[in-house]
Amino acid sequence: MCNHYKEKITTKILSNKTIADNVYEMQLTVPSIVKEARAGQFVNLYLKDESKLLPRPISICEVDIQTNILTLVYAVFGEGTRIISGYMAGSDIQIMGPFGNGYELTEGGTHLLVGGGVGTPPLVELAKRLSGEIIVVVGFKSETYLVEELKKYATVYVATDDGSTGFHGTVVDVLDAHNLRTGKVYACGPKPMLKALQNWVEESQLEAQLSLEERMGCGFGACVGCVVKVISDNEAGYDYKKVCVDGPVFNSKEVIFS
Ligand SMILES: Cc1cc2nc3c(=O)[nH]c(=O)nc-3n(C[C@H](O)[C@H](O)[C@H](O)COP(=O)(O)OP(=O)(O)OC[C@H]3O[C@@H](n4cnc5c(N)ncnc54)[C@H](O)[C@@H]3O)c2cc1C
Ligand code: FES
Repeated sequence: MCNHYKEKITTKILSNKTIADNVYEMQLTVPSIVKEARAGQFVNLYLKDESKLLPRPISICEVDIQTNILTLVYAVFGEGTRIISGYMAGSDIQIMGPFGNGYELTEGGTHLLVGGGVGTPPLVELAKRLSGEIIVVVGFKSETYLVEELKKYATVYVATDDGSTGFHGTVVDVLDAHNLRTGKVYACGPKPMLKALQNWVEESQLEAQLSLEERMGCGFGACVGCVVKVISDNEAGYDYKKVCVDGPVFNSKEVIFS
């Protein structure tokens, strides 16, 4: 995957609105990114504040090739995303991408898409691009988002930690409760969820692709701020890969969660 020729693009924010508590949807017109984007890839957003030079990686939630609109959905996590959430429609933002490998798509059959919290956004473009039977299982702390978008393409099961919507429990509890041990698995979410899913997938003898939302530095391969431990056939039995260029999507069998 060649990420080196990318340049920062300055574009206008079409909209930047809250869709759930602390969660925002931003829409931008970026023809070059929309044209190239694959499900599971991400973009780097740059802040106007010169003291915060490192970009914030955000997954591609949806692209519309008719209108060249890119949709991102992000949670306010720290200072950078708090600042981004305050950018108004009509103002400029710098963006670079798309980056990363994205999910490998297969035609037909059953696809099981599993997301947790802000791991849900990339599943929208993924569900749109897959063909066959598409089942989505998404988990949230409490308030849900993107569920209606996902229902356009898939049968959707929802889990919440507090039981306020859908199943009271985790996404793995839902997979067990509905006996959804079938198909190719695609996932994105926080590390504890991915770790639990990795075990479930192994027990269920299914193939899975996991998208890791590791902490990043440069966002395009120039530092080692995003390494993840992976199984290797070298003497040590393990090695490290960079999430930003070798991922963010990895085969479930190769990831060693600490
Ligand atoms: C491939 C990928 C896709 C992502 N997609 C989404 C998405 O679609 N929606 C969403 O809400 N969040 C997503 N994240 C997480 C998001 O990038 C972080 O929440 C965000 O960078 C936090 O920045 P901050 O300034 O608010 O937090 P701070 O903690 O103040 O950030 C400080 C620095 O650490 C980096 N950082 C902190 N947390 C993360 C993290 N989890 N991942 C990567 N870098 C981090 C920041 O980029 C920044 O350089 C994604 C992360 C990755 C790696
Ligand atoms: S974030 Fe710099 S190498 Fe991945």
